[in-house]
Amino acid sequence: MKPCNHGKPSQTKMLIMVRIFCFCLVSTLLSIQGSLTLTPNESIQGNRTLVSSAGTFEAGFFNFGNSQGHYFGIWYKNITPRTIVWVANRDAPVKNSTAFLTLTEQGVPVILDASRSVVWSSNTSRTAKKPVMQLLDSGNLVVKDEDDTKNLLWESFDYPGDTFLAGMKLRTNFVTGSFRSLTSWKNAEDPGSGEFSYHIDAHGFPQLVTTKGEILISRGGSWNGFVFSGVSWRRMLTLVNFSLVINDKEVIYQYETLQAEIVTRLVINPQGFVQRLLWSGRNRGWEILSTRPMDQCEYYAFCDVNSMCNVTNSPKICTCLEGFVPQFYEKWSSLDWYGGCVRRVNLSCDGDGFLKYTGMKFPDTTSSRYDESLSLEKCEKLCLKNCSCTAYANIDVNGTGCLLWFGNISDLTRHTDQGQDIYIRLAASELDHRGNNQSFDNKKLAGILVGIAAFVMVLGLATFTYMKRKKVSKGGVFMKK
Ligand SMILES: *[C@@H]1O[C@H](CO)[C@@H](O)[C@H](O)[C@H]1NC(C)=O
Ligand SMILES: *[C@@H]1O[C@H](CO)[C@@H](O)[C@H](O)[C@H]1NC(C)=O
Ligand SMILES: *[C@@H]1O[C@H](CO)[C@@H](O)[C@H](O)[C@H]1NC(C)=O
Ligand SMILES: *[C@@H]1O[C@H](CO)[C@@H](O)[C@H](O)[C@H]1NC(C)=O
Ligand SMILES: *[C@@H]1O[C@H](CO)[C@@H](O)[C@H](O)[C@H]1NC(C)=O
Ligand SMILES: *[C@@H]1O[C@H](CO)[C@@H](O)[C@H](O)[C@H]1NC(C)=O
Ligand SMILES: *[C@@H]1O[C@H](CO)[C@@H](O)[C@H](O)[C@H]1NC(C)=O
Ligand SMILES: *[C@@H]1O[C@H](CO)[C@@H](O)[C@H](O)[C@H]1NC(C)=O
Ligand SMILES: *[C@@H]1O[C@H](CO)[C@@H](O)[C@H](O)[C@H]1NC(C)=O
Ligand SMILES: *[C@@H]1O[C@H](CO)[C@@H](O)[C@H](O)[C@H]1NC(C)=O
Repeated sequence: MKPCNHGKPSQTKMLIMVRIFCFCLVSTLLSIQGSLTLTPNESIQGNRTLVSSAGTFEAGFFNFGNSQGHYFGIWYKNITPRTIVWVANRDAPVKNSTAFLTLTEQGVPVILDASRSVVWSSNTSRTAKKPVMQLLDSGNLVVKDEDDTKNLLWESFDYPGDTFLAGMKLRTNFVTGSFRSLTSWKNAEDPGSGEFSYHIDAHGFPQLVTTKGEILISRGGSWNGFVFSGVSWRRMLTLVNFSLVINDKEVIYQYETLQAEIVTRLVINPQGFVQRLLWSGRNRGWEILSTRPMDQCEYYAFCDVNSMCNVTNSPKICTCLEGFVPQFYEKWSSLDWYGGCVRRVNLSCDGDGFLKYTGMKFPDTTSSRYDESLSLEKCEKLCLKNCSCTAYANIDVNGTGCLLWFGNISDLTRHTDQGQDIYIRLAASELDHRGNNQSFDNKKLAGILVGIAAFVMVLGLATFTYMKRKKVSKGGVFMKK
């Protein structure tokens, strides 16, 4: 709504405009039934709310039906049933509906209970003279100084809950290893911090992971230049634009919607499933664009090491990579994938080669290294130079960068749509009787076929000549030089 026209009107015109402005302001306030800002002498309590300027998001207290806990959270204003995207006091519910949220004189958001003791407070260290709290249309609740609106004193986007909204940033610090993650709720009616975390793992090349405590549950894949590869991403890229920035210190992941009308969120649910949802105004519901893990192959290392997972091959969904055999044959044949696969022939370090797999979701990059400037040829050479390097690939789908894996290959699966090529190291003797380099092999095969054909022809010709001679010589011995 733009009620103000900054022209140079006459006084009467000005008066009319002021009236229009007031009318608009009042009707806006009436239509959104919430305040646009909060200052230290004001508070939010009961069913009073804070609303973003275009009326996209609303913030206030809520509770779950008959449950005792009251929470201060953010939800979509125009979507029912109410979809909570952030909760301030998720681990400190207030028992009493008389609790309220306010700003301290210094600009620290606090939730106080009826006895005025602090239930929750933000971790703001910076202070302001004229602090004001505002809910942005991105769903970000911010505190800034009225005299310096560019610098935020605090923002809820820095403290994600279970929901990843457009414009939020997931960061992982290479130096300290600390990361900003989504954390699941305890259950559908308890937003308290649950067991599952969704974040960027940066031990090797950055990958998106879901963990339960210290345990890796599922990988969202590694960055392929456009997206973390684990999803079916063609449709996704018509809706959102993902970006990954890697600098010396940290890796930063975020996304934007390509059109303002697109309403999408990613959420990690209390059971640890990560879902990307899209609001469908027509169906008045959330459409699920992706869920992970979706099948057994999406559980981390379901087939253990040096193997490949293929759900369409059920129940025998695990197979050893070419040149590998089950570590425990009996277990493997009774569909127990424990132990995975081991090399039939050890690498010799010198003179090994590579077998190409196309359309793959890359294996675990925990023990990987990368160089964004190297070509594929240089990448192969680099891998061959190090005896513990077991695979290499281009980093992104456009064919740039070099990614190297060391040790066992874990969690390699065929990609659902456009996957990537990976080259897995094998001893030369293994490659000799396998489809190594395909063009080379086809040539070899063609050569063999031509050879056989020629041999048959020569043999046929020789037999024919021999028979003929035999006939001519009538029992005489035909000697071939
Ligand atoms: C609250 O404080 C602001 C300035 O911080 C002031 O403009 C406003 O009048 C005050 N409101 C009330 C109800 O005291
Ligand atoms: C707000 O709360 C008051 C008292 O709790 C109640 O009387 C009123 O109906 C509520 N208003 C709305 C719009 O829910
Ligand atoms: C909230 O707490 C206050 C003080 O502890 C008490 O007087 C009031 O009755 C409580 N209200 C409710 C709804 O429990
Ligand atoms: C504030 O920081 C302390 C220590 O760094 C931490 O324990 C606490 O959970 C933080 N609180 C919030 C609301 O982030
Ligand atoms: C990939 O190539 C396309 C077309 O050449 C280009 O538009 C795009 O920016 C490239 N993307 C990356 C991640 O390199
Ligand atoms: C995607 O986002 C990046 C940065 O966030 C921006 O540079 C790029 O132009 C965007 N691409 C599209 C297609 O919007
Ligand atoms: C997966 O299994 C199906 C069914 O057996 C088969 O057609 C397909 O080729 C397999 N894919 C891979 C990558 O092995
Ligand atoms: C590779 O996997 C095998 C079989 O599970 C295991 O015995 C071995 O310790 C692993 N090696 C490394 C370096 O993790
Ligand atoms: C292969 O290597 C392993 C350990 O690296 C060793 O125990 C085994 O004997 C080797 N096998 C052969 C056939 O050399
Ligand atoms: C091979 O790579 C491993 C893993 O990055 C590294 O620890 C080792 O030093 C490398 N060896 C050589 C000879 O470069």
